[in-house]
Amino acid sequence: MSQFLSNCSVDALATAAQSLREGSLVAFPTETVYGLGADATNAKAVARIYEVKGRPADHPLIVHISDIKYLDQWISDIPQFAIALAREFWPGPMTLVLRRSDLAKDFITGGQNTVGIRIPDNSLALGLMEEFHKLGGSGIAAPSANRFGQVSPTTAAAVTEELGEYLFDSDLVLDGGRSEVGLESTIIDCTGELPRVLRPGAITLEMIEEVTSLKVSDLLKNNSADSKPEEIRVSGSLENHYAPKAKVFLDQQPVPGSGFIALKDIETPDGVTRLATPESVEEFARVLYSALREGDHQNLETIYIAQPTGEGLAIAIRDRLSRASDSVND
Ligand code: TXA
Ligand code: MG
Repeated sequence: MSQFLSNCSVDALATAAQSLREGSLVAFPTETVYGLGADATNAKAVARIYEVKGRPADHPLIVHISDIKYLDQWISDIPQFAIALAREFWPGPMTLVLRRSDLAKDFITGGQNTVGIRIPDNSLALGLMEEFHKLGGSGIAAPSANRFGQVSPTTAAAVTEELGEYLFDSDLVLDGGRSEVGLESTIIDCTGELPRVLRPGAITLEMIEEVTSLKVSDLLKNNSADSKPEEIRVSGSLENHYAPKAKVFLDQQPVPGSGFIALKDIETPDGVTRLATPESVEEFARVLYSALREGDHQNLETIYIAQPTGEGLAIAIRDRLSRASDSVND
């Protein structure tokens, strides 16, 4: 069992950074979801991420840095449009996939010649990374802090629930409250002529097109199995990801005894347990994963979800739900 740190002071962050340098794992908050961090240059520490998550070893990890000045260490080439995206949206819920440098080893990239990089917008995460950089660290590899295929954690308590039994005493979980966005970052492949969204998120297609003045691959607007990128491994693109224990059904009439998640203006049908009543699409994203967990805590066998319609963040919500669900696309 790991140590759990709330009210993290600068001293606590310095201690956590030291633990990372010594090869321990530190779970930390980001604005998207909580990450399970390891020193991205330490093969042994990174191997423990895979053990703790139960994740296949060929799935690449995102390297987190605190400032754009550390980007050069990790990459060998960056197109103009990616520079524009980095300037506009970092720190923020966006991961750029770029050609790797020698520092990004196969144990980070899954053997690919690219590396995913992100500067998260969370003061605790940025504070931790600053302390880590002071100790000579280059970047923190961090997948979402959940067991492979499960729902990402958006609170420190959810991290402990997911991973507590697999962590060592020397590992840490930093408590920074609830993640503000609630869905994983938008992943943008920047290795081609045009940006290509590999995983939708809070940085939307429209936002990317506006900043780059380029046509973004509309992979997501046509979200079918045969439109998925094949040569690039994105573990979150597997079906049956982001899944709670309960069976999830989308846009169907809920049966009594099941859980129900929908926007506030949709009434709760008779005999079902309302798990969340978000007032906006943003709030829907923020509370979705904790509502799915709550359904599991209540031992519900089925959860029905009325999905938000429209573009923008709603696309990312529907992307995750289609993979969490037992009712469509299988
Ligand atoms: O919001 C997030 O991105 C969170 C927080 C902690 O930063 N992290 C996260 O990591 O969601 P993870 O490992 O759960 O999901 C990252 C996804 C995986 O599906 C992985 O395959 C993909 O990013 N990925 C990482 N590096 C890649 C690369 N070089 N090329 C293609 N996909 C990559
Ligand atoms: Mg994940």
